[in-house]
Amino acid sequence: MKANDLLGIGELARRTGLSVSAIRFYENKGLVEPMRTGGNQRRFLRSDIRRLSFILIAQNLGLSLAEIEEAMKGLPQGRTPNASDWKRISAAIRQRIDAQIARLEKIREDLDGCIGCGCLSLKKCALYNACDKWGESGKGPRVLR
Ligand code: FES
Repeated sequence: MKANDLLGIGELARRTGLSVSAIRFYENKGLVEPMRTGGNQRRFLRSDIRRLSFILIAQNLGLSLAEIEEAMKGLPQGRTPNASDWKRISAAIRQRIDAQIARLEKIREDLDGCIGCGCLSLKKCALYNACDKWGESGKGPRVLR
């Protein structure tokens, strides 16, 4: 198997876990660009698996499609992106990953304490959320803010 092997959309869907319609959606957005066979069938480079996987990871991190499109603009069309291409692209979302890690660490630290949800059920709530003052700043557990 090689990165420039050609795959049908069904194979791509099986390997990425994406639906065929989702792959067509990303194609319409210009995030993947298949070739056409003489019979006008789509054929994707095996390396497109990584493009689609990058989209999945970025979405999991909470990036919008517009942010993903912007990040992937730096990828070459018509050739398999190499390690330095991906390094450049990944740099664009690294800050986002770091912010997510910091946020999750804070939640992990706070989870057994008062999470600012308004229940006032823990002793700590009286200290950290007296009279549910956090409720004035928004809905839901304010520890997630
Ligand atoms: S845990 Fe709910 S308000 Fe403190």
